[in-house]
Order: sequence, then structure tokens, then C-alpha cells
Amino acid sequence: MNDVARAAGLLRAGELVAFPTETVYGLGADASNPLAIAKIFAAKGRPADHPLIVHLPDASHLERWAVDIPEAARELAAAFWPGPLTLILKRHPSVLDAVTGGQDTVGLRVPNHPLALQLLREFDGTNGGANGGGLAAPSANRFGHVSPTTAAHVSEELGDAVALILDGGPCAVGIESTILDLSGGEPRILRPGMLDATVIGAVLGRVPAFGGDQDAPRVSGSLEAHYAPRTPLQLVATAELATTARKALVAGQRIAVLAAQPLIPEHQNLVWRRASAKPAQFAHDLYARLRELDALRCDLILVAAPPADEVWRAVADRLRRAAAGSK
Ligand code: TXA
Ligand code: MG
Repeated sequence: MNDVARAAGLLRAGELVAFPTETVYGLGADASNPLAIAKIFAAKGRPADHPLIVHLPDASHLERWAVDIPEAARELAAAFWPGPLTLILKRHPSVLDAVTGGQDTVGLRVPNHPLALQLLREFDGTNGGANGGGLAAPSANRFGHVSPTTAAHVSEELGDAVALILDGGPCAVGIESTILDLSGGEPRILRPGMLDATVIGAVLGRVPAFGGDQDAPRVSGSLEAHYAPRTPLQLVATAELATTARKALVAGQRIAVLAAQPLIPEHQNLVWRRASAKPAQFAHDLYARLRELDALRCDLILVAAPPADEVWRAVADRLRRAAAGSK
């Protein structure tokens, strides 16, 4: 039996299987099995009211999970699925409360990774669609930690808790999907991702707004303390990087620096890692770099703040949360 067939069998039996997506690795469970969903929350140490994204093999599955699906959702699905876009829609009555966090909406996406798609098709096909063919999958990290972008990261985070980790190599995108709320009212981006507002706006016919209002659904990605390394992380304007680094070194601290340019002069208590000057590459590398820098056990990680452009929004968002969460 190949790994995908084994994984599908384990999922049907209510076990957890980690699998690669183009964004980050997911911790997958049968979205129709309450016991399997409970295992996700236990493994991650995640609060029960944080809803999960349901991953589907293709857009033809939308009706099994959502109702009142707006035309915009179909157009966006046609344009961007499989891909790093999660749509928040009104839930189908059969969707488990444990998946939606008790909300009247559900998050759905079709991931763009060959192994994930094979797994989703196998999981759906071999059960005749009886379980809806959806896999609930949060990022495969412990709650509040940096998301995993390799199979080795998953194993570090959750090794004992998963029945199987499918290894699909490093994730191409590197940060989590864009979450777009289409459940009513104005379309809103609840979590920025590499699929940005401009690109989504071109299909929607208008650029979506950001953030939720008071009645908007909860998004755990909107908690400040998220995506955080254990070492304190500080975002610093590039122009102030050298001064900030010097102060820390003078104070006897060991520091790690993530920036496009090396800091001169070099210092024995300073480790520099080159950051890409391109947003897609920066995002691709980001979580692996944070893990690497965290493992150095320095006193401080300094990251050069990205430009304030729209194309850097998702990266800037994750860095801000990493900084907030590490304090
Ligand atoms: O790229 C991704 O989206 C990855 C891969 C594995 O697909 N998944 C991911 O899942 O990032 P997770 O659980 O780490 O983050 C999902 C986010 C959470 O912040 C959750 O609150 C939000 O999606 N979410 C899920 N369902 C929702 C809903 N009905 N309304 C609002 N937010 C929702
Ligand atoms: Mg997550």
C-alpha cells in the first residue's frame, strides 16, 4: 500500500495525518468525525472555539459544506483553487460545531499540492463520499507556535500525536492562506496571505476590505500572540538596525539578525541570516528561518521591517504577530 492510501485509511479510522499543502503543513482529520476533530484540538493544545478550515478535493464539493453560496465564491474558486485562498461561507447544517467553533460559517479551501490533492481524492473516493470528503486541517504546529513548512518541522512540533506525516518537501508559499469572508455583507480579508487583495479584487470586481467588524467571525490568526518563536523578536526599521544591534551587543546580548544586508562590522555575538528582498521568497523562507534563529538560543532576534507595500502585507502581518507573541 502506498503512503497516500495508508494515510486515507488512517483518516477514515479517525486518526490524525499531517500532510503538505502549498502554504504550510496541515494536521488533518476527517472533518465529519467528532472524535477525530477532538484529537486535533488535543494535539495542538488549541482552544475549542477556534474554527478549523475544511480542505476539499475540488470546488464541486462546496455544496456539501456550505449553503447560500454567492456567485463571487464560485468565481474565486474557479480562479484560485486549487490555491492559497480560504473562503468563509454560511455553513451547511451538517457541518460539526467542533469544526466551526459553533459559528454559522465554515472555512473551505482546495490546497494546491499534489500530495494533498491525492490524499483528498483518495479519502473521498474510497468512502463513496459518505463522510463528505473533507479534511479539517489547521497548521500542524502547537497552538501559538510557528507554522511548519517541512515534514521535519511537523515531527518536532507534534511527532507523537500524529499517526503519519506525509512528506512533500518544503512548502512553496510558506505562510498560511488568505482568508476571505464571503458569508454576508462586504467581502473582507480576515487574514492576509500571499494571494493579495489586488489579485482577489481583480476577480471580485472590487478590492476587499481588511479585518472584521465586531460581529465578524473569530480568526485565531488575528490573536496578537501567534506565530511566535520563543526568543524575543523585535521588528526594526532597516535604517535603525545597526544602532539597535550595537546597543544590544554593548549590553552583552547575543543577537540574531534577519535582514537583506549584513551588519558591518561583524561581531562574535551576532549571527546574520540573509533575508530575501522579494516578498514571495521571504514568505517561503520565513518560518524555517524563525525556527533556525530560535534554535540558536540568542537573547534577541532582530528582523529588518519589510516595506509598507501591499505585496509585503502578509509577511509584515506574520512578523508583527511573531514580535507580539514572543514578548
Ligand atoms: O494555509 C492554511 O490555511 C493552512 C493550511 C494547512 O491549509 N491552515 C491554517 O489553519 O492556517 P489554522 O487552523 O492554523 O488557521 C485557520 C484560521 C484560523 O485562524 C481560524 O480561526 C480561521 O482560519 N477560520 C476557520 N474557520 C473560520 C470561520 N468559519 N470563520 C472565521 N475564521 C475561520
Ligand atoms: Mg495556525
